[in-house]
Amino acid sequence: MRARPSRRDLSQVAGAGYNAGMTSRVAVLASGSGSNLQSLLDHLHGNRQNTGDRAGAAEVVLVASNRADARALDRGRAAGAATAVLNDVDDGDALAALLDDHAVDLVVLAGYLKLVPASVVRRYPGRMLNVHPALLPSFGGPGMYGRRVHEAVLHSGARVSGVTVHFVDEEYDRGTIIAQWPVPVLPGDDAVTLAARVLSAEHILYPRVVEAVAAGRLSERGQRPPASSHSHLQPASSVHFSLTVEPAALAAGMDQLLSL
Ligand code: GRF
Repeated sequence: MRARPSRRDLSQVAGAGYNAGMTSRVAVLASGSGSNLQSLLDHLHGNRQNTGDRAGAAEVVLVASNRADARALDRGRAAGAATAVLNDVDDGDALAALLDDHAVDLVVLAGYLKLVPASVVRRYPGRMLNVHPALLPSFGGPGMYGRRVHEAVLHSGARVSGVTVHFVDEEYDRGTIIAQWPVPVLPGDDAVTLAARVLSAEHILYPRVVEAVAAGRLSERGQRPPASSHSHLQPASSVHFSLTVEPAALAAGMDQLLSL
């Protein structure tokens, strides 16, 4: 039974700000522990408390996983969201029907290790997001997940890693980049310590980007990345996620660092 009609058609016509003034119904797909899901739930809950329980920009209505034992499902249940196990991750019709059943506006991948079927990706243009624990377009693509990402960063000798939030397209880790946050690679790091530092940044950045997209403050504006590379978000939105550092402060910080 369909819970209620999707607003998808209307939202595509509206383009940027598709959901302005309405609460976006969010589905989260996750394969593992779901700490990013939890940070999203906490962020949205905190917002509701701050606004005296007024409906916020987004609400997590569904958590789905390819693994029945994923802790993310428990977290979803505890937050009152519907949960589902995806028995066949390649079955785009089943996933599309599930999302329709819950009238989902926005799909958020949070540690989802499977490729979303292209037929589903095409139904959510500019409305499907992913978080990646490195600075794309480096250290991404098929097979680059979990500790492998951090091992590759360490192996490369890079002194900076980070978080990338991007729209999802038909390929792993390739859609338009929305936001990035640098995270230092420190001497003595291994994949575990680096992953933990990056994850802390994910928990801060991802909920805010999801909320901004849900509220229509950030949008892809129909822009598609070229076949084999990233494109960048049009700077037309009121939200700008790049970090700005005042040069004098940067120099002072560097002096301090180098004199240690
Ligand atoms: C995160 O590092 C995320 O970037 C990656 O998978 C990890 C998921 O962690 N895609 P969690 O399940 O949210 O704790």
